[in-house]
Amino acid sequence: MDEVLVPRDFGPFWWIALSYVGLTLVAGALAVCDSYLASWVGGKFVLSLRTQLFRHLQGLSLDFFERRPLGDMLSRLTGDVAAIESFVLSGVGDTLAYILRIIYFTGVLLYIQWELTLVSLIVAPLFWFVPRHFSRLIRRASRERRRRSGSISSVAEESFSNAQLVQAYNRQEAEIDRFQRENLGHFEAYMMSARAKALMSPLVSLIGVACGLGVIGVGVWMLSEGRLSLGELLVFLTYLGGLYGPIRGLGRLGTSIYAASAAAERIVEFLDEQPSVLDRPDARTLKHARGLIEFENVSFHYPRATQTVLTDVTFRVEPGETLALVGPSGAGKSTIAKLLLRFYDPAEGEIRLDGHDLRDLRVHAVREHIAVLLQEALVFDATVRENIVYGRPNATDEEIVQAAKAADAHEFIAALPHGYDTVVGQKGRRLSGGQRQRIAIARAMIRNAPILILDEPTTDLDPESGHRILEPLRRLMSGRTTIIISHNLMTVREATAILVLKEGHVIEQGTHFDLVTRDGTYAALYRLCQGHDAASIISGSDLGPHRQVAP
Ligand SMILES: Nc1ncnc2c1ncn2[C@@H]1O[C@H](COP(=O)(O)OP(=O)(O)OP(=O)(O)O)[C@@H](O)[C@H]1O
Ligand SMILES: [Mg+2]
Repeated sequence: MDEVLVPRDFGPFWWIALSYVGLTLVAGALAVCDSYLASWVGGKFVLSLRTQLFRHLQGLSLDFFERRPLGDMLSRLTGDVAAIESFVLSGVGDTLAYILRIIYFTGVLLYIQWELTLVSLIVAPLFWFVPRHFSRLIRRASRERRRRSGSISSVAEESFSNAQLVQAYNRQEAEIDRFQRENLGHFEAYMMSARAKALMSPLVSLIGVACGLGVIGVGVWMLSEGRLSLGELLVFLTYLGGLYGPIRGLGRLGTSIYAASAAAERIVEFLDEQPSVLDRPDARTLKHARGLIEFENVSFHYPRATQTVLTDVTFRVEPGETLALVGPSGAGKSTIAKLLLRFYDPAEGEIRLDGHDLRDLRVHAVREHIAVLLQEALVFDATVRENIVYGRPNATDEEIVQAAKAADAHEFIAALPHGYDTVVGQKGRRLSGGQRQRIAIARAMIRNAPILILDEPTTDLDPESGHRILEPLRRLMSGRTTIIISHNLMTVREATAILVLKEGHVIEQGTHFDLVTRDGTYAALYRLCQGHDAASIISGSDLGPHRQVAP
């Protein structure tokens, strides 16, 4: 302005134009690096955050998973991480760029005209205070939105995974309502933050205009006083625009910071969760377990529950022997199995494996020696082979086939379209209950653990399939310490000892013969079962060889 336009001198035009082109080229090169680097850093950050969160969750105890809705967990792992991702990808880089630009422009402005710069900086804080007022609103709305996202996932997850129930009871409309209610909540929270943002933006512009006009006013006055040239004033105003831009940008960024921080709060909440069952620093591993199990005066209540589930439970199972747990529903049978797997620690008393208190052993080491078979056979959506090898990842193909044969599963697996490489579908839906259970038996077989826990392995099956897995079960149990839980007393007669539980108390203990002779609860239950199950006694659907049972 002062050296080219006003004196009408063409000379300096070239170097000004050239340096402008040069600067643009440099800026372009920086922009390429910037967007690449920002994506790389952001991507890496999210990758490690998500993996670490998942790793952390895998390390948590079972009570956490029983307490938290699955859909909400998934939403945190995906949606909340993504909310942070978008902030990291653009927000962090932008913040840095804004701050650098503010420093640079302030410096240049001070260099051009320090008095006018001070005038323009006096109003700058206004850019901060106005958005601050709205930030509380936006923050609350962001939190609510993240929470609702979790609820939406929960409802959808629950609804779809219970599709059978929903359809059978014609509850589709009710499910839609439930889903819509959460979505409506999400929408309202969204609108709340949208309102705040919408109001904030023109207000900030207004402040910008007012400040700009104020500075122009002072500038024009200084121009008229001859303390400033026209060129200086124009350059000053251009640079001032450059300064207010990033300041306003910082205010706007606030909103995306709140969205990310609401998501971060939800992730940190999970990261703060500590496993309730922890390895002691001096915890030991156990190379080979013989399988001696002892419970001594064990009392237990579930975390966050007051009701005592087990009271003063004492028993001992010698290696290779079978203990049957019987008793009414809710008596605490499965809880004993969970304690043995060290999903929880007892409140009082001691559980010992081969004479070692479980709490002195590493959690991993305890579970290494146990194979479980649950009422509902759990399988992954993977091939039959992968599902079996889950029991011991380094098993060979031969061992897999061997285990499948012992589990009486080889035949049906071979008949599947792709044999051992057939994918079984989510939760094994493409298999029958009996087939799933036999795959689970093969998995337990291949684990080759000295201790076996069977929690009502035949309850889910019809008598025919139930009968069919008895032979493989018997093979599985031979030579292992077994704890079998069963409502069907016909399947427990052969156990070395039977423990009758009621409301968490051991009320009877002994062999089948002892208990029947004693004529207590067990005898009564047994008589009832006998009447029920006369047919299955005749067809021999009990564990162990046929034997005349007294009385
Ligand atoms: N995760 C949990 N949190 C709180 N309480 C629980 C939990 N799991 C079970 N309970 C309670 O503990 C008690 C014993 O449950 P448990 O599952 O051990 O019974 P069970 O004898 O296996 O019954 P069933 O024969 O029906 O399987 C029940 O009263 C139940 O309500
Ligand atoms: Mg149970």
